[in-house]
Amino acid sequence: MNRREVFLVVAVATNGVIGNDGKMPWHISADLRRFKELTMGKPMVMGRKTFESLPGLLPGRRHIVLTRDPAWAEDGAEVARTPDEALALANAPHVAVVGGAEVYRLFLPLADRIEWTEVHAAPRGDTHFPAFDRSGWAENQRESHVPDGRVPGFDFVTLLRKPAA
Ligand SMILES: NC(=O)c1ccc[n+]([C@@H]2O[C@H](COP(=O)([O-])OP(=O)(O)OC[C@H]3O[C@@H](n4cnc5c(N)ncnc54)[C@H](OP(=O)(O)O)[C@@H]3O)[C@@H](O)[C@H]2O)c1
Repeated sequence: MNRREVFLVVAVATNGVIGNDGKMPWHISADLRRFKELTMGKPMVMGRKTFESLPGLLPGRRHIVLTRDPAWAEDGAEVARTPDEALALANAPHVAVVGGAEVYRLFLPLADRIEWTEVHAAPRGDTHFPAFDRSGWAENQRESHVPDGRVPGFDFVTLLRKPAA
């Protein structure tokens, strides 16, 4: 295959939180719609814990699940043991990496683009996006949304990896 693009899709609170107790700490319908648009028709790579946090299989997308457990299997999930194995299995021009924190950490060095939802809130959480050097990334797009009732404000941001100097 020619050049393959790996992109991360993530929603991150101001304090770095992405999850709490196996769940997302917020419910932002517009973000779920954007997630669907960004991932539809593309293979998704995710950690076993994120797979188990989904309400069910997401239609129109392959679910490639990283686990070290040789006995783990679920209907609709394709199992990978390493990031390389996940990418080989994906075998597609665009591969979406959809979390959680452990899997973002593994794929950050390989990512070309990050579709980042900046959530303007600081919820309690037990899972954080890994620290990374933002200076290596250029902000390509930003779309801002104001708070609405109990839904916090948020920005949809596209980050592109800067070419190596
Ligand atoms: N805000 C967001 O955008 C977003 C997106 C996704 C998830 N989340 C949240 O993030 C949390 C889950 O994240 P998490 O970091 O705890 O878990 P995770 O990354 O979803 O899954 C971790 C699991 O992946 C497997 N794994 C990790 N590294 C591996 C490697 N090198 N090789 C093979 N398998 C490997 C292991 O599975 P085994 O234990 O089976 O070996 C590990 O327990 C949840 O709260 C979820 O709601 C938030």
